[in-house]
Amino acid sequence: MALADFLASLDQLSEQALAAFAAAGSQDALESARVDFLGAKAGRLRQVQQGLGSVDKSDKPTAGKRFNEIKALVEAAFATAQENQTTGDNRARETLDVTVPGRPVRIGRLHPITQTIREMKDIMGRLGFTAVEGPEIEDDWHNFEALNIPLSHPARDPLDNFYLGVGETMSDSPLLLRSQTSTVQIRVMENAVANTPAGESPPPVRIISLGRVYRPDTADATHYPMFHQIEGLLIDQGVTMADLKSVLRLFCQSYFGDDNTADDEVHVRFRPSFFPFTEPSVEVDMNWRDAKGNSGWMEMGGAGMVDPNVLRAVGYDPEEVTGFAFGLGVERICMRQHGITDIRALYQNDVRFLSQF
Ligand code: DAH
Repeated sequence: MALADFLASLDQLSEQALAAFAAAGSQDALESARVDFLGAKAGRLRQVQQGLGSVDKSDKPTAGKRFNEIKALVEAAFATAQENQTTGDNRARETLDVTVPGRPVRIGRLHPITQTIREMKDIMGRLGFTAVEGPEIEDDWHNFEALNIPLSHPARDPLDNFYLGVGETMSDSPLLLRSQTSTVQIRVMENAVANTPAGESPPPVRIISLGRVYRPDTADATHYPMFHQIEGLLIDQGVTMADLKSVLRLFCQSYFGDDNTADDEVHVRFRPSFFPFTEPSVEVDMNWRDAKGNSGWMEMGGAGMVDPNVLRAVGYDPEEVTGFAFGLGVERICMRQHGITDIRALYQNDVRFLSQF
């Protein structure tokens, strides 16, 4: 074979190979072009190489050198094409369309009951009441005895309380999940008395306590075995029912009213009732005009003047001080505010429901 022919076939091959690599639109196409030109057994470069044997002996060095150059050139072209292929792909994958609207950031929110509790603390705080907490697991003394609820009282019925009995027999002073936040009244007054130097009178008390209480009720639209209460307690010299009513009325006005709520559109009504820890005792109803212009009486909970027996049990002198107490249902107030008709909805943790508040 003449040297010129050999060199010409080399040039032609390299031209075709470079064009094929450049034109390959995918990894697969590039790979088949590689096999076609650079394939170790039947590639076209290999075929041209076989022609080298028939080149004149004196031309062999020139032909061989040229062959090696072309081979290197074709291999380099393949490497470049392959690199373009991958980076090209990446670029396609990373393409950023800045006109696409962003994904909205989902912000968590407070549970409606937590919102209600915070608002209540706020309102009562402005009226001078400090928020305190008590344990949810209580003993007999704080949940019953000190609250003037004697052993024979039906409120102690095991069917109405979550006793935390150990084994078969209940100890003399069983623990239970507190059934009311009135327990905190006892704890606060006991603390105040304990911190009072001997011979001095214990200080006035003005607290609220908000928290969970537990009763073995079957869940339905208005009952749930766990719910929340707001408890209030004010102990001082000369406290009367008029103070109780004023505080509850201010609370009602602040919680349910708005700037347009007139003074005479908020009402608090007391109905005679009985609680072991207050005397006299009342049921509290509230009435206000809501944003839609509707009004009507709503039962909020119980209240009364702290029974002298309770004051005595914790070390206050009922001859010296009097006090009022109240306990209202938080769920009821929250549900009324938002128009929620089933208490269970508050505790099903359905984000579609909870995210409305
Ligand atoms: N503890 C009562 C209950 O759970 C509510 C209550 C009534 C609380 C009268 C009080 C009160 O502080 O004075 O039903």
